[in-house]
Amino acid sequence: MSLRFHIHTYGCQMNVRDSEAVAAMLAAAGHVRAEGEEDADLVIVNSCTVRQKAEEKAVGKVGNLIAAGKIVGLAGCAAERMGEEVFRRLPKLHFAVGPRQLWRIPAIVAEFESAPPGRRPRRVLAVGAGELPRGLDAHLAAADGSFAAVQSYVTVMVGCDNRCSYCIVPSVRGREWCRPETEIVAEVKCLAARGVKEVCLLGQSVLRYRGDGGRAFPHLLRELQEVEGLERIRFTSAHPAGCTEELIAAYRDCPKVCRHLHLPVQSGSDRILKSMGRRYDRAEYLDAVARLRAFDPEFALTTDVIVGYPGETDEDFEATRSLMEEAGFDNAFVFKYSPRPGTRAAEMADDVPAAEKERRDQVLLADQERRGLERNLRLVGSLRAVLTEGPSKRNRERWSGRDSGNRIVVFPPVDGVSVGDEVKVRVAEAHAQILVGEVVK
Ligand code: 5AD
Ligand code: SF4
Repeated sequence: MSLRFHIHTYGCQMNVRDSEAVAAMLAAAGHVRAEGEEDADLVIVNSCTVRQKAEEKAVGKVGNLIAAGKIVGLAGCAAERMGEEVFRRLPKLHFAVGPRQLWRIPAIVAEFESAPPGRRPRRVLAVGAGELPRGLDAHLAAADGSFAAVQSYVTVMVGCDNRCSYCIVPSVRGREWCRPETEIVAEVKCLAARGVKEVCLLGQSVLRYRGDGGRAFPHLLRELQEVEGLERIRFTSAHPAGCTEELIAAYRDCPKVCRHLHLPVQSGSDRILKSMGRRYDRAEYLDAVARLRAFDPEFALTTDVIVGYPGETDEDFEATRSLMEEAGFDNAFVFKYSPRPGTRAAEMADDVPAAEKERRDQVLLADQERRGLERNLRLVGSLRAVLTEGPSKRNRERWSGRDSGNRIVVFPPVDGVSVGDEVKVRVAEAHAQILVGEVVK
């Protein structure tokens, strides 16, 4: 029997990619994608647990879906963290599957749908981050249309061996493991043959990637540069230790590799960075930034910052503020510290009051709003090479796309330009989050 399924995704790009792989596996098993969750028989919530709030959202969502009488599965990081406990919180949940067990979903679903209603398994739990994942290369046919055919995520490594004090990820996504280069290149070739123009390579700390014979990440970039039909290569997330001369040389030699790096800094205070176990200090971080910007002054940098980490003083916070200014981030994501069970930081007192975390969050956001605008104003009058994505989300009468620096560029549509084409846009207007201009023929 074929079920109509829907997958609801929380969290990072890794989860977006995992959801797509699960969708592809379910489609291969004969199930069909529903229009939305209302008309689905099976709904899977792919969850995040990086902060307590993220986990609560997923659990709340699952509760509502169960009440609506669907077959419901909780997948991803929150499922892995909660394990057996998930069924105490959600007694009617049908199945829970951790990030490394997602490939089991089609078989689990088969158990539910093939058994007569009275003989269905009551519940299935598939967790354990020790196993190697499978099905990482499953992609939906481009014809399905539900995932952008212009861009695609490609998982190059799973898990994480960094032990940042605050982070739950290593315990839910397991040890670091890199896919073989040959497999990744074959996958990207296959995507490019289907019309995908841009790939984003995913790993928790992607610059730690090691390919055949221990070759470092820049070698993979050089291999992908040769893939016919592919126009752009992005990757995320990065650590300053990986910003080597070898990486910069790959940027220089590979025009397809986009000039943007998401380089989470987390804090600008050496004391806090040390407690976090980040393995760089402020000076080393800023040195990586300086080398990237010396190579290309327009090189775009984005970051993640945590405010209210245990023991973060006003002085530590001001150090973060000044680092963000010195680094000149093009965009920043600010997170309020949330203690995660089992992490080293959770042993420390969560001593910054909620109101103070909120204040620091707002201050950094306001700083970034101003800085983003300033940085974008410098691009007014310049020509951006924009990969067209189609009608803009905010204003359907305009089209949008991104430049090499991942900046969103909005422009009035012109005849003869279709989704996936690269156009040159002259920037006329700058805002903190977008550039506006017109296509130059
Ligand atoms: N509390 C708040 N933010 C966190 N992040 C990771 N763990 C926590 C936590 N316990 C943030 C980091 C990371 C981003 C994905 O989430 O900034 O880069
Ligand atoms: Fe992604 Fe981390 Fe959330 Fe898991 S816990 S979905 S790895 S952000």
